[in-house]
Amino acid sequence: MNVKTIAAAAAFAVAAVTIASAADEPQAVRQQMMKGVGQAMGALVAITKGEKPYDAEVVKASLTTFSKAGKAFPDLFPVGSETGAETEASPKIWQSMDDFKAKSLKFSADADAVLAAMPADQAGVAAAVKTLGANCSGCHEAYRIKK
Ligand code: HEC
Repeated sequence: MNVKTIAAAAAFAVAAVTIASAADEPQAVRQQMMKGVGQAMGALVAITKGEKPYDAEVVKASLTTFSKAGKAFPDLFPVGSETGAETEASPKIWQSMDDFKAKSLKFSADADAVLAAMPADQAGVAAAVKTLGANCSGCHEAYRIKK
């Protein structure tokens, strides 16, 4: 390797690290997680509207996404991530962290309960959407700033 190649490789390595850390920031990770939750909810809503046929695998995948996200989500709000990356997180999260955590864990527990009963048809999915949707709006009203 000549000096020029080494310098180019080093510059590339630095650029790669910078990109990785931007995507790794808790703001980006939690937004990505919520995006997945939004998509999972969209898949359930499509079934309730009859836009998609009932599909047990899709229902199971969506509920599993909610269950996992609800457990992991509160860890993505470390001190120092109150602002930045166009976060919609309300400052109230850090003032009421225990309540915020409880809301997130309840979301996960509700998803687990629905998963255990496993909605068997369109009507079952509609009931699940109602139960889980209350978690979305309850937390968003308290802890998400709508921009
Ligand atoms: C425990 C609280 C909580 C629950 C429960 C919750 N959310 Fe969120 N959600 C948030 C917060 C806080 C943000 C803002 C995160 C940020 O911008 O840093 C957010 C952001 C989002 C976003 C925007 C993601 C992006 O692109 O930046 C979507 C979509 C979303 N939530 C959908 C849902 C849906 C659908 C549900 C229910 C199935 C749900 N959320 C349940 C707290 C919650």
